[in-house]
Amino acid sequence: MIRTNITIGLFGFGVVGQGLHAVLERTPGLRARIGRIAVKDRNKARSLPAELFTFDKQDLLDDPSLDVIVELIDNADEAYIIVKQALLNGKAVVTANKKMLAEHLPELIELQRSTGTPLLYEAAACASLPVIRNLEEYYDTDLLDSVEGIINGSTNYILTAMNRDGQPYADALAKAQRLGFAESNPALDVEGLDARNKLVLLLAHAFGLVTGPEELLAVGIDCLSPLATAYAREQGLAIKLVAEARRLPNGIIAAAVLPTLVAPSHELANVHDEFNGLVTQSGFADRQFFLGRGAGAFPTASAVLSDLSALTYGYRYEYKKIQQNAHLSLAPDAAEVDVLVTFEDEANVPDESDFTVVHEQLRSAQRGNYLIGTIGLGQLARATWLRLPGVCVVRLACPLRAASQAVGARPAIETELVNEISR
Ligand code: HSE
Repeated sequence: MIRTNITIGLFGFGVVGQGLHAVLERTPGLRARIGRIAVKDRNKARSLPAELFTFDKQDLLDDPSLDVIVELIDNADEAYIIVKQALLNGKAVVTANKKMLAEHLPELIELQRSTGTPLLYEAAACASLPVIRNLEEYYDTDLLDSVEGIINGSTNYILTAMNRDGQPYADALAKAQRLGFAESNPALDVEGLDARNKLVLLLAHAFGLVTGPEELLAVGIDCLSPLATAYAREQGLAIKLVAEARRLPNGIIAAAVLPTLVAPSHELANVHDEFNGLVTQSGFADRQFFLGRGAGAFPTASAVLSDLSALTYGYRYEYKKIQQNAHLSLAPDAAEVDVLVTFEDEANVPDESDFTVVHEQLRSAQRGNYLIGTIGLGQLARATWLRLPGVCVVRLACPLRAASQAVGARPAIETELVNEISR
């Protein structure tokens, strides 16, 4: 049982760790203080007294005066060892490490159950937006149909800088790194993998579906083509990296992270910079929208602070929906999506037979190559052409949906553009 005076053993003193220290200084009402900090780098200058720091994780994990472990390090493998040992030692844990959580969620849920020790991670999904606890508690009984959102701040920052401010991709990424939004390995952000890890957490708390990140299709923004960007602009749409999980008929859940064309009237179209946005759709409450800062020191620390406060009143995740929704399963082959695929040349042409319907296509030396079609989500994930250099996939402005019965690739809509195809 957590006392009202919390003494924290903090792992990591980077952007978020320092943010937490500053936030705690300004929150006397919580009566939480940092008792010890474990860090890796012995040569780094620290802004706090040297005696607070240690380089040995056991100094925190074995210290009975520390009630709570707050894990804010970068290395997911090391974080897993720390969190597991802390739970086994009966210490409540707060973590922001979405990669570690997504990779070990079933075991971490079981460890919370077997040790009776709470593990909270509001900061791991959407930073300052209070989504996990709301999905877990508020939407406990009102059945959720879908969650869709911008859940990675860095990529939204980059897309905003490119499309609104005309900055080159590399400059925008470098700025997202300088501002402390990006992961230390920014490939996790731009390849959609960080959003996919967060989607694993949203699936567990929105639908009670516990799955591994590798089960979910993730396409990032690193391969966006000028043609796709021009297409979006011509259509008056915004390209956003959208994570979506949707309940389809027959107990099927479809989920993916995809660059997506978003209409100006959609809530996500107005989520800019490092902000995150999450739209929930549920039976009785209908449509709701969470908006807030999705990365950065203070926004992330604010979620850690909220978890610390929740621990003082004995809060823990109960994962009630895992029991409630045991009939739900992830079935990418039962879902489909409309996509725009642009490709550079004959070496990376998408295979038409992968598509349920090809709606439109163009191959033109002057205007570029593209295909617009409907494709099964599972088929898209398996497509070998998807990961070829020069291929860009963007989802059209429509939700994931149950697969139709249409079979076979055929140009369903013959436009004048089709006439330009040169084989
Ligand atoms: N790199 C992450 C992001 C940090 O940009 O969203 C917050 O999780």
